Amino acid sequence: MRIVMLGAPGSGKGTQAQRLQADYRLPQISTGDLLRRAVAEGTALGLQAKAAMDAGELVADRIVLGMIEERVARPDAAAGFILDGYPRNESQARDLEAVLDQLGLSLDCAVLMDVDFDILMKRLTGRRTCSANGKVLNIYFSAPEELEECRRAGGELVQRDDDNEATIGNRLRVYQRETAPLIEHYRARGLLKTVAATGAVDEVYGRLTKCLGLGS
Ligand code: AP5
Repeated sequence: MRIVMLGAPGSGKGTQAQRLQADYRLPQISTGDLLRRAVAEGTALGLQAKAAMDAGELVADRIVLGMIEERVARPDAAAGFILDGYPRNESQARDLEAVLDQLGLSLDCAVLMDVDFDILMKRLTGRRTCSANGKVLNIYFSAPEELEECRRAGGELVQRDDDNEATIGNRLRVYQRETAPLIEHYRARGLLKTVAATGAVDEVYGRLTKCLGLGS
């Protein structure tokens, strides 16, 4: 199964993709994670990407395209994958079609994580990543036991550099301007599925797996 996860920053794309990856062995391919790794490692590509990421703008299409071409061609993606955060504009959507065409593959669907904009700021300012296991958590919404589990594993709850109010505001504007038009792009191709992404993480996951024909 080859899936694109569409949705605003904080809509839960990464959280749900991590669960699908764990339960169905579909690799989560997150351009945000790949870019953050490149920045942390100080690669040339990371240095080029950093300013755009800090400002909440999109990184150049050619940079993310190179990452996607390399990643979807790896053996673990042969049986399917979840694209989390790619494509982000019309030009990337066309690039993706061309990459998949070359591999003789196509998308099964694009899932829109549909959520009210007013809850996104709290989700994003409260987001923390566990340094021990990479799990995405939230100081407002995660159960205390989940936060404690990270501390017990010797991990720290790390906040992303771009999860501050000013940058979040710009990321949301960029989403509306550049990425939201992809909803129509995929609807026109008969690939769009929509999942109500408000409510507890487990409830959303139940809706998502059902919509993908994976759950009961
Ligand atoms: P990226 O890392 O992709 O960030 P994003 O799109 O802004 O998405 P987020 O990771 O913020 O949100 P999410 O939907 O994954 O939410 P999550 O599950 O974490 O991109 C970062 C930057 O990299 C971009 O700004 C850009 O500069 C660059 N970039 C990346 N891809 C690019 C591309 N293709 N082209 C160009 N540039 C690119 O959840 C958020 C929080 O909410 C968490 O704390 C979670 O625990 C909590 N939460 C989730 N679901 C629920 C729920 N149901 N109830 C309560 N809390 C919940």
